Amino acid sequence: MISEKMQKALNDQLKEEYFSSYLYLSMAAYFESNNLNGFAHWMKTQSEEEKGHAMKFYGYINEQQARVSLNAIDKPQMDWVSSLAAFEETLKHEQKITKHINTLMDLAIAEKDHATTIFLQWFITEQVEEEAHAAHIAEQLKMIGDSKQGLMMLNSILGQRK
Ligand code: FEO
Repeated sequence: MISEKMQKALNDQLKEEYFSSYLYLSMAAYFESNNLNGFAHWMKTQSEEEKGHAMKFYGYINEQQARVSLNAIDKPQMDWVSSLAAFEETLKHEQKITKHINTLMDLAIAEKDHATTIFLQWFITEQVEEEAHAAHIAEQLKMIGDSKQGLMMLNSILGQRK
């Protein structure tokens, strides 16, 4: 059993995860349009992962006999000035998601909602990884600078993401 307030907060996060999926699919389309198929593959994989995150919230809300409410997903941006700009935004977005998860955790602790605290633990750990991946690729893009060869090499590496 979760509170009404928690039900709303979890549904809000379910939407945030779907927006993340939408944002990364939009970035995938941006990379496809620039013939960077490896970058596009990385983003499509990320987009799928975000749907998985959303469905964890969906499953948990149902398990708690609460009601899933699907809120409208905002339209994501379509273009970025560079590959680096897209990954810098990815990092910024993940930092925002981390704040949301932390706020949810604060609520669960305040409500002494132990089950939700345990459920959110996975997301706390996951966000550390999500931020690290985005930061790592953004740093690599900074090192590459204007080198086309470097960009193609990273494109090939990102295309191997499982
Ligand atoms: Fe679902 Fe990338 O956080």
